[in-house]
Amino acid sequence: MALILNAWYVAAWPHEVSAEKLLSRTICALPMVFFRDAQGKASALEDRCCHREMPLSQGWMESCTVRCGYHGMRFDGAGQCVEIPGQEFIPPGAKVIAYPVVERHGWIWVWPGDASRADPKLIPEMFARNDHPDWTSVGGTTYVRGHYELISDNLLDLTHETFIHRESLGNQAVIDHPIEVEHTDSTVTVQRWMFNHEPAPFWKRNLFLKLGRDVPADRWQIINFAPPANIVLDVGVAPTGMGAREGNRGAGCEGCNLNAITPETEDSTWYFWAFARRFQREDEALSKKLIEQVAGIFEQDRVAIEGVHETMKRNRGRPVIHLIADKGQNLARRMVEGVAENEAANR
Ligand code: FES
Ligand SMILES: [Fe+2]
Repeated sequence: MALILNAWYVAAWPHEVSAEKLLSRTICALPMVFFRDAQGKASALEDRCCHREMPLSQGWMESCTVRCGYHGMRFDGAGQCVEIPGQEFIPPGAKVIAYPVVERHGWIWVWPGDASRADPKLIPEMFARNDHPDWTSVGGTTYVRGHYELISDNLLDLTHETFIHRESLGNQAVIDHPIEVEHTDSTVTVQRWMFNHEPAPFWKRNLFLKLGRDVPADRWQIINFAPPANIVLDVGVAPTGMGAREGNRGAGCEGCNLNAITPETEDSTWYFWAFARRFQREDEALSKKLIEQVAGIFEQDRVAIEGVHETMKRNRGRPVIHLIADKGQNLARRMVEGVAENEAANR
């Protein structure tokens, strides 16, 4: 199945893109260079000079434009050539593809497909908590040698926490409590509620930090998916009986895991993640610890996903079995397939 090009994907964190240094990154099998123009606006150009096809990533930034490292043509953020060394005349074809780029929700987004369809309104609002004033968000990037849908599969079935993350997020309660799955034409929601129990170590620690004592807790996992691979998890714990399910979560630890999953190629993925929280918001030591802990958790997922990817490639076409907990990921996969088929039919 071809990669979906007509979509917004996170390409970078804002601090990775500057006016001084090119960032070379492949998105949906399209090599690009990212930089900021004189106004500070992030831009993305194809990584190919229109003269003799030198990768622009082998050039450098000069006066907020890209200097090709071969014969020195210079390009602005719109991909227009603004200088040709040794000649005044700039031919009409002296330009390279500029991909639509928008900076929003604490990330830099790129649209690798048909630029005329790149409506910024299509950038998923579900990521708003990444830079929302009511939340404190920290995050990172995990590079995965695996197909991007394997990361969606992983996040849509959290029974794996009990096994892969048994020292942090998982315990018996996760597998003992069933999931509830709902969907619309363009979203999938999977939720699991665990009432009146001793939460898994990660949540137990954070609840203790907030309350100064251990208490029985209600824990929630609400996974929201939108194609191609945008996934936001509302997660957290609150003291039992405070009405967390009805929305009264302030007495506990309310977190939100934001996952923007961007295919690099069919076999590799830029996995941008963040953990936003509404507890201990000013605690910088906790912020640092959370980056380390969450990165460590996703590192465990990375190892698993790369193993799955390799095995799947060796066994292409062999049947697998499906379990009840797979319902969300199966719905998500069918949705992605539908979007990809629709895009192929309209190309
Ligand atoms: S290849 Fe870029 S200027 Fe010649
Ligand atoms: Fe995981």
